[in-house]
Amino acid sequence: MKTEIIRARTAVDMAAVRQIRSQVFILEQQVPPELEWDELEERAVHVLCRRDGAPAAAGRLVVTDGRAKIGRVAVLKRYRGQGLGAAVCRKLIEIAHDEGAREIYLNAQLHARGFYEKLGFTARGEIFEEAGIDHVRMVYDEPCG
Ligand code: COA
Repeated sequence: MKTEIIRARTAVDMAAVRQIRSQVFILEQQVPPELEWDELEERAVHVLCRRDGAPAAAGRLVVTDGRAKIGRVAVLKRYRGQGLGAAVCRKLIEIAHDEGAREIYLNAQLHARGFYEKLGFTARGEIFEEAGIDHVRMVYDEPCG
């Protein structure tokens, strides 16, 4: 089985990213579309994972004043538990380093805290609600340049 993880640049790549996120966040998790497609979408770096050529997972990174925020990490249901979510996050961390980010953080859905802990993130602060889902802020511990 072939796994490809790329920075999404073309219209075809971006259509695949949107299709994955529509399926996972809007259909499965009932996130309102107007929250899913926010104003950061245009300037974010998007990552797409394909398994044997088929779109399987996605995520994005937004760098603001040297702080990199990972978000919208989504794996289609049938591809979960195969390391793709972790691979997308590692690619986003690598891009954050390349962009010279001083800090990497994310707002994790509470159920995914253990997933991000395995990647080196630590929860900080209170639990809060976003799009009707409980979240916690998490920070990447490894110093990044
Ligand atoms: N809680 C704790 N650990 C988890 C976990 C969870 N919810 N999901 C995966 N893990 C663990 C795996 O067991 C694996 O551990 P291992 O390295 O010891 O084998 C490791 O984390 C990597 O898992 P991986 O196979 O890469 O996860 P995945 O491809 O299934 O992706 C999500 C995980 C959360 C991205 C995926 O379930 C998903 O898309 N969920 C719906 C959307 C979502 O909630 N996104 C997160 C928004 S913050």
